[in-house]
Amino acid sequence: MFNKTIDRSGTNALKLERYKEYKEAIPAWVADMDFESPKCVIEALEERVKHGIFGYTSTDDDTKNAIVNFIKRYHGWSFDKDSLVFTSGVVASLNIACKMLKPNESVITTTPIYPYFLSAPENMDRKVRAVAMREIEGRWSIDFDEFERNIDADCKLFLLCNPYNPGGTVFTKDELLKIGEIALKHDLIICLDEIHAELVLNKNAKHIPIASLSPQIADKTITLMAPSKTFNIAGLQSSFAVIENAKLRARFEKSMGHINGGVNLLALTATKAAYEGGDEWLREVKEYLAENLQIVKEFVKNCPPLRLLDMDATYLAWIDCRALNTNAWQLFLKGGVVLNDGKSFGGGGDGFVRLNFAMPRVVLKEVLARMEKAVRLCTN
Ligand SMILES: Cc1ncc(COP(=O)(O)O)c(C=O)c1O
Repeated sequence: MFNKTIDRSGTNALKLERYKEYKEAIPAWVADMDFESPKCVIEALEERVKHGIFGYTSTDDDTKNAIVNFIKRYHGWSFDKDSLVFTSGVVASLNIACKMLKPNESVITTTPIYPYFLSAPENMDRKVRAVAMREIEGRWSIDFDEFERNIDADCKLFLLCNPYNPGGTVFTKDELLKIGEIALKHDLIICLDEIHAELVLNKNAKHIPIASLSPQIADKTITLMAPSKTFNIAGLQSSFAVIENAKLRARFEKSMGHINGGVNLLALTATKAAYEGGDEWLREVKEYLAENLQIVKEFVKNCPPLRLLDMDATYLAWIDCRALNTNAWQLFLKGGVVLNDGKSFGGGGDGFVRLNFAMPRVVLKEVLARMEKAVRLCTN
């Protein structure tokens, strides 16, 4: 089913619209999939639309239970449904978390990182310090000593994502415990974006929600999750924060105020349907993505001097093109592929490109053929 090529033109798809002047270029950038969402989601939306009245809608217990049960089933993490706070997106939640801080308090994060981690503190006029991700034993991770040295007295919030974007690292239990230990020692709130949690493609890796590790860590944690990446419904704008500590939850809700209206009714409909009935689709899409990842890895291996470190999760390959000594994003754009420019992910991202490989295999093969040709032209 994922081999089907679907024309997305005329749907205002951001993936196509942003670079539409490059008519012949294949878009392989922003993080959504070129696949249809699960049938159960499409049918639930059709059913809801048929009703014809789209008035104010409350968040219901059935949807909350669907979320709680799904997270328990997938990640072995149980929490009370009252810990849920709905928002219209994880990016909105990152901004809400930063707004919680007092004006003189600051944020710490890591780079390169999904760009909105850096813009969220800036939007809220909070200082942000970024610590570089390091290549450690063939994968992207954090040098915890270096990280700890960068924590100032005014630092109150640690923004991180796991699985990591870009780079696809799934932090191990030991790494997460270390993060928890540092946060407790320095009295940091952990705001962990786990939006890619279900898209672990490496069978030897397991996503662990950091708040599941201990009540002490849970007490300091805001976990941001969503069905949007998992079931390809980003345009519906559905997400939620899980905040078990009632005081912290109240702070988050106060910061949110009525600036963010939470999820809309179609988002709620899709979320419930996906979490209740999307398991089989999810199993299949992960299988397909894992095979696509293999193809991307083979391509990089055969296309020096490109490099790709081990990645566990996400459909976003973080390709190191630094040895090309050219503007790689431009090179590939001229070669007919739109990627994400690593530079936009902050410090350390320059010279990298991010390839979204969630597309039918026949399209992926064309993307990689174009990229290979561009590299050959540049290196010969
Ligand atoms: C790590 C990460 N967080 C958040 C988002 C976007 O979340 P939302 O669409 O819910 O705002 C993305 C999308 O690519 C992402 O990769």
